Amino acid sequence: MRNRVLMAAAALLPLIATTVFAANDVVDGPVRDKGAVRPAEHQARVSEPATLTRDKAIRQIPQINPGEYFIPPQIQDIPTSKYGEMVELGRRIFTDTQHYAGRYVGNALNCSSCHLQEGRKAYASPMWAAYPMYPEFRNKTRSVITFEERVQDCFKYSMNGIAPTLDSPEIKALSAYAHWLSKGAPINTELPGRGFARLAKPRDPNSINGEKLYKENCAMCHGKDGQGQKFAKRDGYMFPPLWGGKSFNRAAGMSSIKDCAQFTKANMPLGKGWTLTDMEAWDICTYIWIQDRPSDPRFGWLMNIIMPPTGGN
Ligand code: HEC
Ligand code: HEC
Repeated sequence: MRNRVLMAAAALLPLIATTVFAANDVVDGPVRDKGAVRPAEHQARVSEPATLTRDKAIRQIPQINPGEYFIPPQIQDIPTSKYGEMVELGRRIFTDTQHYAGRYVGNALNCSSCHLQEGRKAYASPMWAAYPMYPEFRNKTRSVITFEERVQDCFKYSMNGIAPTLDSPEIKALSAYAHWLSKGAPINTELPGRGFARLAKPRDPNSINGEKLYKENCAMCHGKDGQGQKFAKRDGYMFPPLWGGKSFNRAAGMSSIKDCAQFTKANMPLGKGWTLTDMEAWDICTYIWIQDRPSDPRFGWLMNIIMPPTGGN
């Protein structure tokens, strides 16, 4: 019996070997810089990014010159068609999620609270850089997911809500909006400005320094207690809450110190992105991280009490 198994394994060996070598052959091809935007190969409205390599884009403070990043189409370019109506609906859901997808939302945020300028701002995880990258492998779920599934995750965690089904009008409209914003962008090419800033971490972050910096740089808008500020005369928040029951939950990307610091560096204080040092962003986000917020919906209440919160260090 044992011999037979060994013989079968021996017989299979050459087969396995050829498969492995065959797979190796496939990767041969022209070597390309993944980050380079190549206007010649697509119709994107990108200015000549002659000096902007991905390496530079992520390590240096980018000069936010218009045209250094992919430029999505203008609102007035939304076509008058059934497709255009869906794009417009998606834009409304994106910028006023409270109103247009309120039943799926469990906090005070809109998609555009984090994906700034209607999902257009480079380094505020813009939709034009995200949409063309899917399907993509995601470490969090250890599986390849579609753009629509990625949006579902932001509903569950960033919006502390429930995910609309994949065939719901909300998910379709948000996809149509991101699809339209990506008009002319190269598919499956990581564009400069995707995600947030990349940071150095010269030392371990310090929440006490973070508290001081928070009070100096953030509290005037988001409140000393992090609860944000409502509009005086209408519903909703002028400055969204950073922690507490009305903010994102423990499983959200933003609740990890790293994502928060990367976002903050490039975008906060609002209108003054890139002014904090990397270390200041880490410190502030460590202070935000130790605050209370809705628990991780992937675990039961007991695990939420005994497990350390996700997203530290
Ligand atoms: C609390 C802040 C927050 C809110 C609100 C939020 N997101 Fe996100 N979103 C994030 C973070 C953080 C990431 C991870 C960014 C990264 O790693 O590039 C992310 C990533 C994404 C991505 C993938 C980006 C990429 O480059 O792959 C999509 C798509 C997305 N969000 C859509 C949405 C939509 C649609 C909504 C509204 C329903 C929403 N998000 C609300 C914080 C937020
Ligand atoms: C001038 C007012 C202002 C200041 C100062 C400011 N923010 Fe914000 N912040 C905003 C606004 C407004 C938004 C939402 C953007 C939108 O809806 O267009 C926001 C969004 C955010 C978000 C994502 C949404 C959420 O509620 O989690 C985070 C995180 C954040 N700010 C962190 C900070 C940090 C950290 C500082 C200090 C370094 C800071 N902000 C300083 C106005 C401000």
